[in-house]
Amino acid sequence: MMSRHAGQAVRLADYQPTLYAIETVDLDFLLSPHATLVTARLAIVPRDGTDAGAPLVLDGDGLTLVSVSLDGRPLAAEAFTATPDGLTVATPPARPFTLEIVTEIDPEANLALSGLYRSRGTYCTQCEAEGFRRITYFLDRPDVLSIYTTRIEAPVAEAPILLANGNQIVSGTSADGTRHFAVWHDPYPKPSYLFAMVAGDLALVRDDFVTASGREVDLRIYVEHGNEDRATYAMDALKRSMRWDEEAFGREYDLDIFMIVAVSDFNMGAMENKGLNIFNDKYVLAAPETATDQDYTGIEGVIAHEYFHNWTGNRITCRDWFQLCLKEGLTVFRDQEFSSDQRSRPVKRISDVRTLRAQQFTEDAGPLAHPVRPEIYHEINNFYTATVYEKGAELIRALKTLIGADAFARGMDLYFDRHDGDAATIEDFLACFAEASGSDLAPFLMWYRQAGTPRVTARGTYDAEARRFTLDLAQTCPPTPGQPTKLPVPIPVRFGLVGPNGADLDVTAVSGATVKDDVIHLTEASQTVVFEGVAARPVPSLLRAFSAPVVLDIDLPLEDRLFLLGHDSDPFNRWEAAQAIATVALKAAAAAIAAGGTSPETDRSFVSALGTVAADETLDHAFRALVLQLPSETDIAREIGSDVDPTAIAAARRNMRRAIAEALADTFAGLYDRLSTAEPFRPDAAGAGRRAFRNTLLDYLSLVPAGAGRMERHYDTADNMTDRLAALTALVFTGAAGAEAALADFYDRFKDHPLAIDKWFVVQATAPSDDTLDTVRRLTGHPAFAFTNPNRVRSLVGAFSMANPAQFNRPDGAGYAFLASTAIDLDPRNPQLAARLLGAFRSWRTMEPGRRAKAEVELRRIAAVRPLSPDVTDIVGRCLA
Ligand code: PHE
Ligand code: ZN
Repeated sequence: MMSRHAGQAVRLADYQPTLYAIETVDLDFLLSPHATLVTARLAIVPRDGTDAGAPLVLDGDGLTLVSVSLDGRPLAAEAFTATPDGLTVATPPARPFTLEIVTEIDPEANLALSGLYRSRGTYCTQCEAEGFRRITYFLDRPDVLSIYTTRIEAPVAEAPILLANGNQIVSGTSADGTRHFAVWHDPYPKPSYLFAMVAGDLALVRDDFVTASGREVDLRIYVEHGNEDRATYAMDALKRSMRWDEEAFGREYDLDIFMIVAVSDFNMGAMENKGLNIFNDKYVLAAPETATDQDYTGIEGVIAHEYFHNWTGNRITCRDWFQLCLKEGLTVFRDQEFSSDQRSRPVKRISDVRTLRAQQFTEDAGPLAHPVRPEIYHEINNFYTATVYEKGAELIRALKTLIGADAFARGMDLYFDRHDGDAATIEDFLACFAEASGSDLAPFLMWYRQAGTPRVTARGTYDAEARRFTLDLAQTCPPTPGQPTKLPVPIPVRFGLVGPNGADLDVTAVSGATVKDDVIHLTEASQTVVFEGVAARPVPSLLRAFSAPVVLDIDLPLEDRLFLLGHDSDPFNRWEAAQAIATVALKAAAAAIAAGGTSPETDRSFVSALGTVAADETLDHAFRALVLQLPSETDIAREIGSDVDPTAIAAARRNMRRAIAEALADTFAGLYDRLSTAEPFRPDAAGAGRRAFRNTLLDYLSLVPAGAGRMERHYDTADNMTDRLAALTALVFTGAAGAEAALADFYDRFKDHPLAIDKWFVVQATAPSDDTLDTVRRLTGHPAFAFTNPNRVRSLVGAFSMANPAQFNRPDGAGYAFLASTAIDLDPRNPQLAARLLGAFRSWRTMEPGRRAKAEVELRRIAAVRPLSPDVTDIVGRCLA
């Protein structure tokens, strides 16, 4: 057997367990910036049924082999073959043996940030998904579970802190005091992707936690010196997460120490390495002056997410990378539930659905669409997607809605019981819920196998005489790459029939589909549900709380939607009603503008309904802010679906925002001014909601004369980043006279705070101006810009191409050319980051022909580059397929 070539297709159908198990791994790191020596002693055992002497094929990636020995004796040259990308022992013994491999690696030169690298002098590792093979040769796949012992040795001055997974068991210092070492042991078997090691000069923030059963856990957050004060919120979020997992899922922490290390250079959000989470510092560090409310909620959510992985991911891991959603979808679901419990459930739900639609629905509608559990991949790094994560979480929620909360809880318990210590599959997971609920979940598996967003069509008719309401439901799912036809999936449709007084009508009898409590189980391609004893003509409120990740197509008249906006008992659907009204109007307006006309007038009844919500003091501020925010340009583009003209969409949206601002200027100004009384900053839901509402009002006011003085004052008097950034954004986006001065002030104020300077880049990259691309190009040469720091690159290049659709999709194609050139430059250094940025091309085929042609030219230009990483080859290849 040959080791797989990077970029070669991997298929779920080809899964085979390994021929050998690796029971223990002893690692020894002799750290040095350019020449770290890694000794790996592997206790290898042929699995039952493995042919005697079957070759042992280990993965590698860019490795330099120093030596290899078997049971203490150097292997003869003819006994093995080694390349940078693999090591094969031709005929290993047919009994347990020890393989000792010494490799030499260059952490300083590792700009891909996968494997062992340095971030501002700190040595750290990132092994998911296939980074461990950049450290040593190994069976680098999630179904090989081993017990790790890690020894780290380094000069004391360079790396006073030495960390690895598990508990520290030994440490020591050389006689002259210049070198030291530490040995860490992790008693829990784990796959290589959960291995971690950190060494550097870091400051420590400590706390402790006593678990439900009385285990005392030492909590440690390591940050760069000087950042200690900024880790308080993260620590608080960690303790709340630990308690919540005990209460909500009965899961306790299982080691005596839990560590988080914050680093500045990180490709993703954070990583759940056993006992030693490594975080992008964006998700650890926060202070009111430098972090927004969004940053605080991000920290709370990511801290929880990584902590929750200890059970859903680490104690129970994935059999193979096709099962990635087993840990990610489930863990996102768990962190979303946590945040809902900590803050406002409806507000959290609306924010999550906004993200889901913007990211996942968009992904699902283009060439990068793939099932929650893919069946083939060329580069696994490209499957850490909104589909696997966010749609994966929606499937867990839909499952819970279908089988009910009690059966869901029993299924989770069974899963933890049965699979603790396993590398499991989606089938294993679903079997637990099938058993716990006594239902056949085979149809539910289709949700995991089919890509694409199902579309549910609903048509209601009321027969007053018979007091009968008939609801015709049908589902379809559009074709996606490799999947021309689709089968129906079980869709939970949470619903209410809203009566004239705004209360849900009682329904005495139903037929045509399973209806449990307030959930219709739509399981067929089409079903007609008949409700009897319906006293008055109802307005159907369907898919309450967004009970399934589908597009709902229901042609309610405007009056009915306005009624739901005003009266639905389901807050999600109140918000949704406003979104639906705006979407219909914005599509029409964009079409009119694209055809050379002008925007039709915004419906007055809609505007006044928004005014009513804004002024309704019974509603919380965060909710009001969400209702006032129109669907994004990306959402509108996706709804339009083909021959998209992003310039027209931006104009339609701008016109509607201005019309709302003009009509409600007095209401908004009055509300804004009343909220302006200073209150001390607190990052909690109430404070954040208040700021969100006030900043949304400012955003509208910035479009009318009333905004003029208020924007500057808002900026000058801000005592926190949320407000200051909102004011800066309003000034820059409206091209106000004070914009340049505010940008200069902001830079000066925060030049020593990289995470705040990231925001300075984002504001300029997302400005709705035809000069933005020039600005972005110029900023790539700014002394504070660095292509080696992923946060910085995402803040400038990522924000421009993902969050500024009208400018990225400029009709002259210059936005595409810029992104293509940037990705080509970046690819040799950090292919994961380059590939991720290129995700911005995922909607290129939906553009009008002129833009489409220009995007295709750029995609082909990238495809022709040699060498090109497997990461970028895969994304560009799928985009062009
Ligand atoms: N597993 C990490 C998380 O979700 C994400 C990650 C993937 C980080 C790959 C780094 C590399 O929580
Ligand atoms: Zn995760």
